[in-house]
Amino acid sequence: MIQTWSLQDGRQSLVLAAEREHLPEVIYWGPRLPDGEDLDVLARAHQMDVTGGMLDQNPELSICPEATRTFPGQPGMILRAGDGTPLLPKFCFEKATKEENSLTLSYRDQSNTLTYRAHFAINPTSHMITARAEIESGAPVHLHWLSAPVFPAPQNSDDVIDFSGRWCGEFQMNRTPWSAGMRYRENRTGRTGHEHFPGLIVPCHGATNTRGHAYGFHYGWSGGHRMIAEELPDGRRQIQFGDAARIEHTPQCKFTSAPLYAMFSDDGINGCAVSFQRHLRDEIVQFPHPDQPRPVHYNCWEAVYFNHNLPELKEIADRAATLGAERFVLDDGWFGNRDDDTRALSDWEVDRRKYPDGLDPLIEHVHGLGMSFGIWFEPEMINPDSDIHRAHPDWALGGEDQILGRQQKALNMALPDVQDFLFDRISAVLSAHEIDYIKWDHNRVLPMPDAAQTRGSYALIDRLRAAFAHVEIESCASGGGRIDFGILERTQRVWLSDSNDALERLRIQHNAAIFLPSVVTGSHVGPRHCHTSGRVIDIRMRAWVAAQRHMGFEMDPRELTDDEAEVLTRTTKWWKDNRNWMARADILRLDSADPSVIAEQQLSETGDHFVVFAGVADTSRQIAPRPLRLTRLSPDVMYRVDLVNRDDAPALSRGAPALKSSPLELSGQYLMNHGLMLPWQFPLHMWVIEGTKI
Ligand code: GLA
Repeated sequence: MIQTWSLQDGRQSLVLAAEREHLPEVIYWGPRLPDGEDLDVLARAHQMDVTGGMLDQNPELSICPEATRTFPGQPGMILRAGDGTPLLPKFCFEKATKEENSLTLSYRDQSNTLTYRAHFAINPTSHMITARAEIESGAPVHLHWLSAPVFPAPQNSDDVIDFSGRWCGEFQMNRTPWSAGMRYRENRTGRTGHEHFPGLIVPCHGATNTRGHAYGFHYGWSGGHRMIAEELPDGRRQIQFGDAARIEHTPQCKFTSAPLYAMFSDDGINGCAVSFQRHLRDEIVQFPHPDQPRPVHYNCWEAVYFNHNLPELKEIADRAATLGAERFVLDDGWFGNRDDDTRALSDWEVDRRKYPDGLDPLIEHVHGLGMSFGIWFEPEMINPDSDIHRAHPDWALGGEDQILGRQQKALNMALPDVQDFLFDRISAVLSAHEIDYIKWDHNRVLPMPDAAQTRGSYALIDRLRAAFAHVEIESCASGGGRIDFGILERTQRVWLSDSNDALERLRIQHNAAIFLPSVVTGSHVGPRHCHTSGRVIDIRMRAWVAAQRHMGFEMDPRELTDDEAEVLTRTTKWWKDNRNWMARADILRLDSADPSVIAEQQLSETGDHFVVFAGVADTSRQIAPRPLRLTRLSPDVMYRVDLVNRDDAPALSRGAPALKSSPLELSGQYLMNHGLMLPWQFPLHMWVIEGTKI
């Protein structure tokens, strides 16, 4: 007997089939099948042959491969009984609940009183499949590993792309060729981390940003994940994602995986990117005021660091407002005796030495300039040199002799007292002032990974959001150390990186766009002389790179020359004029024929309008620019294409490419297949091109 189930949208079909009572396997996942396809026949057609040196039948690559069924790869679950005895479940079908766009399957293991449930949902608009696994037990058990429902990976794929990084260098893409055995990533830092963004792209042969078949995965959890991309001896491939192993420290009766987000794309990596961007923006992030445009930020960190001085901050606020800022964010240094990063974390009370009359004079000044006010917290952290640590040394997570990170420890977020304390202190600041934004930081890894810590952080944020629904939260962790769809269920912006170096930012943004829409991705214009890289980058490049995402400034505006201030004001105005349609645009990574050009196209929801940002990241090998091919336009439609910043052409651009002097009318076909001829440009500069359907 074969049982089958399917989920589909306009683009893809996902078909599961189970033999007898066994757990099902995904037998098809790809372009949408015709309506009449007989799924039983499909299940039989899916059978692999058996030859010498193999078992007499091929064990299923099920949604939770079981060690008890001679599965030749990594199992989907590892459990032990309360006394430590390994449990080796063998699940049998219990029931299936199928609705139009969702499927829940339940399986029982009688001898161990275990129930396994897999839940799948498909969103026909974003083409996102969301899958979760759950295990329930009659008696408390220890969980070592639970994969979200396991997906097969295509065999016509040469490699997998996953993401690593570091402070000031997030979202680095790694390609690993498939071969027998596995690519195993495990993040044991206790937070999402710069090092291990929980995402994976599996491109099929020949897929690029704009073409071909590709599969995308993201695990929505902030406590550290484990990923397995494994090729079995018989050639089949499996993808597993779950919480990092052994991060549940107590036996429990129920465990749930975080959601695994997955999709098939028939138009390259961009098809995955657009699904992730839209799904995150429209289904996951909850903006307190969805109808209000994203305000231009000013953040004072790189201007003053811990040196807070009211007259100076007011002067900075004045200048920021003149440049076009609409929200002023007071960063680290306003509380306790926080004169540097060695002390005072957890002492969340205004420093009366720096603010003798409290925060009101600054907040009123900022409001008077028409800006809203945001403030920095790092709630999960404590310095040993703080009043709270002296009063409650037992609130810190980890041993006395642990290695500190930025001179700080993490608080034990599983303790109700810690949660109440943080709720009270943060609420006191939010209730006493008109504050509508928190930059929520998390600057160190945990002493050891612990799922209870992540659940504690989530609970605190949820509680604060319920009490202060108008407050928006930015997730920061030394830049991009806590970016994932789990934290973004409860926050609205990410501080993508501490690198305000426009060159580095260009690449980080380009790669992060595979997962993140513009509206949540913070990007600031940094100082002329970059504090984290030492590079000196022209204001034009710095301003345009910030204008690619949710724009802000983070330098001391008093350093700006008149020319720099003028360029920044103009670019900010451009951003404000365009932010409404850009907030709903798809960010499409272009297949640049010149590896030194990092280019993207933001295409409006209606397809009527686009902007291309072509960043010259390095000196090209060839002497003249290569044509830049656009994507997802209508081939037969004419577009009016114009260079927004033609004045930026340097004297060394001596020729006369038409775009240099006037707008052009070109067909989608030409733009997508020949591409735009841009003027020559220095490295560390950016061309910006706008296009409108005629
Ligand atoms: C982290 C953040 C920075 C800044 C500092 C303040 O490093 O990433 O943006 O807020 O903390 O200490």
